[in-house]
Amino acid sequence: MVVYIIGVGPGDPEYLTLKGYKAIKDSKIVVGWKGVIDRFSPILEGKEIVILDYKNELEQLNQVVEKAKGENIAILNHGDPSVSDSQFVEKIRNICADKNVKVTIISGVSSLNVLLAKLGLDMNFIGFVTLHVRGDISDYLRNILQILEMGRVAIVIPEPYNDGPQRVAKYLYQNGLNCRVAVFEKLTYENESLRYYDNLISLINDSHNFSDLTIMAIFSK
Ligand SMILES: C[S@@+](CC[C@H](N)C(=O)[O-])C[C@H]1O[C@@H](n2cnc3c(N)ncnc32)[C@H](O)[C@@H]1O
Repeated sequence: MVVYIIGVGPGDPEYLTLKGYKAIKDSKIVVGWKGVIDRFSPILEGKEIVILDYKNELEQLNQVVEKAKGENIAILNHGDPSVSDSQFVEKIRNICADKNVKVTIISGVSSLNVLLAKLGLDMNFIGFVTLHVRGDISDYLRNILQILEMGRVAIVIPEPYNDGPQRVAKYLYQNGLNCRVAVFEKLTYENESLRYYDNLISLINDSHNFSDLTIMAIFSK
């Protein structure tokens, strides 16, 4: 039996791929964070649902993978599992390896893809950095500077704070930059929004509280 890790898109359920849909239909148990599960409730009728919670996540994943010895399991992953979700995916991979259960990743549409489409940008002209990581982020911040020095657009997932984008802007400004930046919130949701800044100072001075669904494009010129 299989544990599917399914990329379900960045918000609008219509971004679920046909392959992801079939894997859900092929699974008896569906696992995910509440916000993601709720989005797909119309197609989850009759499934056993496991809502993950931060405190018990590891234990819950151990239990569902154990069940995958007899049933297919679908783990729904916001966006694409290969974009800024490595710690979550690695956890599942390790549990599956321990229990000798097969794991299959089904790619999805990431917030990164949607942002590139909005900007009309090819992946070839960008560098991507996520600050959604545990521990020290200074190496990742330096990576943003390197991307901009290469003349590329830096696409950044900021730290999950209300002022995550302002923190990135401050770091770059302290390092001698004052470039243009666009900040997208809640891409593909009905209330998605774009805030555009001619320079980093304007973003630093913006008192807007950003949501936890925020992604930035920082332009080198
Ligand atoms: C842990 S990362 C996972 C990213 C996800 N795997 C993806 O492919 O989009 C979660 C962060 O991605 C960004 N993000 C995800 N969906 C978004 C959306 N619809 N609009 C803007 N940013 C988004 C937010 O910064 C969010 O806190």
